Amino acid sequence: MTLPDERDDAALLAMLEDDMTLDAAAPILALAASYFAETRRGEGPVSTWHSAQAIADRLDGPMPRASRPLADVARRLSRLLLDDVNRLAHPMYIGHQVSAPLPAAVWTESLISALNQSQAVREMSPSFTPLEHQVIAWMTDLVGWDEHAGGTMTSGGMEATFTALLAARSRAVPDVWTNGLGATPPVIVCGEHAYHTVSRAAGEMGLGLSRVHVVPSRALRMDPEALRDRLTRLQAEGTRVMAVVATAGCTATGSFDDLEAVADLCDAFADDHGPLWMHVDAAHGGTALLSSRHAHYVQGLVRARSIAWDPHQTLLLPLSAGMVLMRRQDDLTLAFTQAAPYLFGAGTQAQIWDLGPRSFQCSRRADVLKLWVALERYGADQLAQLYERLCHMAHMLHDLLAARDDFLPLHEPMSNILCFAWTPAGVHGADRDALTDALRERYNRSGRGWITATTLEGRRVLRVTVMNPRTDVSHLAALVDGLTAEAALVLRAR
Ligand SMILES: Cc1ncc(COP(=O)(O)O)c(C=O)c1O
Repeated sequence: MTLPDERDDAALLAMLEDDMTLDAAAPILALAASYFAETRRGEGPVSTWHSAQAIADRLDGPMPRASRPLADVARRLSRLLLDDVNRLAHPMYIGHQVSAPLPAAVWTESLISALNQSQAVREMSPSFTPLEHQVIAWMTDLVGWDEHAGGTMTSGGMEATFTALLAARSRAVPDVWTNGLGATPPVIVCGEHAYHTVSRAAGEMGLGLSRVHVVPSRALRMDPEALRDRLTRLQAEGTRVMAVVATAGCTATGSFDDLEAVADLCDAFADDHGPLWMHVDAAHGGTALLSSRHAHYVQGLVRARSIAWDPHQTLLLPLSAGMVLMRRQDDLTLAFTQAAPYLFGAGTQAQIWDLGPRSFQCSRRADVLKLWVALERYGADQLAQLYERLCHMAHMLHDLLAARDDFLPLHEPMSNILCFAWTPAGVHGADRDALTDALRERYNRSGRGWITATTLEGRRVLRVTVMNPRTDVSHLAALVDGLTAEAALVLRAR
């Protein structure tokens, strides 16, 4: 006899079985494919003009308690949500540092989820833990490090730099895991244009923001003279420096600090532990390593003790895929010294493969697979070529703007990022700042394209990051035309 609840289970289990086929997946996968088809040729609006509240109102309602077919869910998803996404695959999206992702990596996402291997423990991910070691070894070889190097994938640059600074903290304060930072914690030194990952890490690890020393920039790069002065002062005071953080591809302008100069100073101010710990936040600019045209920007990277590099930025992977690389992989294990015998193999071969002991996360997706697929499918040389193309487009926009008198490029691009000012006649100071923000908002709301803004030397400026290889010169011209048209409307509405 079949009990009533067993009959229910049978129906429920049948529903799961039905959803496991390619046919069942088709309505969801088709949404992704039709999104690509609609946006890649540059048709339709780039973003939405609906407010977050309008979208929230549309979604408001009770939690679904009953089931519905996957095809219905796909239809609802499309109707309720997809019209209002930012279309990063659209060549007129020239906004934040999030990629128009490589399609082969996008399709790999569903395989990563289907397999659901956890990278923390070798026994939970028998083939992808060795894969992660292999891919990390390719990256550390590229840096120029030897077999002692290592690293792990991370959720992104934020986690990568946090991880590296935890390792630097353990070196500066060897008993920190047991006794904490003590009465006189060490300090971190970084450039004025460092990403807020450094100050956040200082807060997170209980160091405190007052122990982050910010060095001013010269020509948008950390000023080595100012760095020398700061290190001299700290040394004279007897203050320990836990790490010096340089940036390779800074967020606002894409500029690269002079890594050789920073490394020279880390050597010159060596303490009892040896040269100062140099961490390079290459979350954005690490890809320059792959390109013979751009490698000079990261010259000296080999002298870093740790590096953050985001394949989900300029290697064009879908979110999320970050990496922390360490010149000595033992440093990473030190950063997370922790006994968890129920999870990690103790004193066995497994310990070498387990990635959990060297990672901030415990359960962790095998994001390495999409990086491997991207490398297999496109090859490192072609990925380098794509990066060069993105950077070239930033240069082309620089030249287009330099020929005009209503916009002013603010720097030569060192990567794929360009900041520029709108310079309407007779408008200055705070007025110009407000109008610049109004122009950006109007342009983005128009659906013609999507760009960002930032504050540079105290002034609001417009900013683009070319993250889509489909963006070409015609799109850059359309950006300038669109901004010009919207600028006239902003001035008229004043
Ligand atoms: C230089 C730099 N470092 C770190 C980050 C943070 O990276 P993520 O968002 O991948 O955590 C960013 C993000 O744009 C960045 O530009």
